[in-house]
Amino acid sequence: MIAARYHSVAAILHWTIAALIIGQIMGGLYMHGLPNSSPIKFDLYQLHKSFGLTVLFLSLGRLGWRLSHETPPLPAVMPGWQKILARLTHWAFYALMILTPLAGWAIVSVSPTDIPTKWFGLVPVPHLPFFGGVEDRQAAEQLFAEQHEVLAKIIIGLLILHVGAALKHAFVDKDNVFQSMLPENRRAWLAVAGVFAVLGAASLFYLTAGQAPSSASSNKASTQDAAAGNWVVDYENSALFFIGSENGNEFRGEFETFEADIVFDPDNLDGAKILVTVSTGSAWTGDPLRDSNLPGSEWFDVKNHPQATFESTDVRSAEDGYVADGTLVIKDAERPVTLEFDLNIDGDEAHATGHANLVRTNFNLGENASWLEQEGIALKVRVEFEIKAVRKD
Ligand code: HEM
Ligand code: HEM
Repeated sequence: MIAARYHSVAAILHWTIAALIIGQIMGGLYMHGLPNSSPIKFDLYQLHKSFGLTVLFLSLGRLGWRLSHETPPLPAVMPGWQKILARLTHWAFYALMILTPLAGWAIVSVSPTDIPTKWFGLVPVPHLPFFGGVEDRQAAEQLFAEQHEVLAKIIIGLLILHVGAALKHAFVDKDNVFQSMLPENRRAWLAVAGVFAVLGAASLFYLTAGQAPSSASSNKASTQDAAAGNWVVDYENSALFFIGSENGNEFRGEFETFEADIVFDPDNLDGAKILVTVSTGSAWTGDPLRDSNLPGSEWFDVKNHPQATFESTDVRSAEDGYVADGTLVIKDAERPVTLEFDLNIDGDEAHATGHANLVRTNFNLGENASWLEQEGIALKVRVEFEIKAVRKD
């Protein structure tokens, strides 16, 4: 006998995935619209990836279930064109439920910023394997981001049609179609609530103890000669900080010794150049145990790499302030990094404050440290700086 309603497993998956997808669309549009300087942007992206991958795996399970089980028949009185439209919508949904998160996964797999994905800070998720040979990673990232956005918009369109049809069945036709997708009993709703409780707890774990944040955009960097700056930095009144998080508690550290060589004229940004050399051995945080580990080979490896450098490749003005793309070299790792900064020039005096977000493992910081040493230390490290300088004669 053919059942009059969807099996509880199908219904539980339908409502769980539907709620997740609607949340993903709203969350995706919201996070995308945030300025890069937003302190929650990075975390929202990581949660978006975690929830989105959950959709992918639940959808694959749901498709497997669908292909191996009967579904209730549509009402005999339903016009043929509506039945065809319903089937087309349903299969298009199955395709979108899988392709949309795959496109999202492709964005992060090909992105030059190469931010690792960890499902709710718990389970490492590798990048998709197909993109090793891609040369222009930035263009590929852009392409997948566009596809991801278009697929999400097609979901929105179909959802309007789908919900409209569901409501018509419930309130106009008053047939059994809407009920057929409602879970049979309260236990099934509890299962949906259970999935959300687990995902909610995982999000909370990520935000508190898990690995948090970040990195900025990219630009293939070229090495250029050191600039002969037109500003003299007032080191007494300048500072370079790094902010990390251990077991959910933020800590602040400082590099006591650094040198900045700056060529900067707001009217000639094409000629701007920022070169910063940092003494890795001058890092301290005030915590004796942590500070005793910092110079070691797993962290700054001061003996072999006494200096880290940042060299700008492109300085431009932004909505509020300026942005400098460049290359940061720490130990053997050379990666694109973007600084964002505000600048006030008053006569011959300049005052700049800014920041950059990094993922420490991109610079081999603490990557292979023992579990005990690095457990709970967030991947995200924020670098903040304040520079005062006077114009050279
Ligand atoms: C993005 C969110 C959603 C997706 C991806 C989605 C997807 C689907 C799919 C693929 C089916 C076909 C089931 C199958 O044959 O295995 C289905 C059926 C159904 N959906 Fe949704 N759905 C979503 C949201 C909703 C919402 C919000 C409602 C109600 C307001 C709803 C009501 C229904 C109903 C009543 C059926 C049964 C229709 C039938 O048997 O022909 N869906 N949905
Ligand atoms: C069904 C699941 C998903 C839906 C419905 C969804 C939806 C969205 C939406 C609506 C946006 C905003 C698009 C824009 O305004 O440009 C977005 C952005 C994004 N999504 Fe997803 N997403 C899903 C899964 C994923 C997954 C699994 C990943 C990665 C593993 C991911 C990674 C991203 C990234 C990196 C962006 C930002 C793109 C940019 O800033 O240009 N998404 N997503």
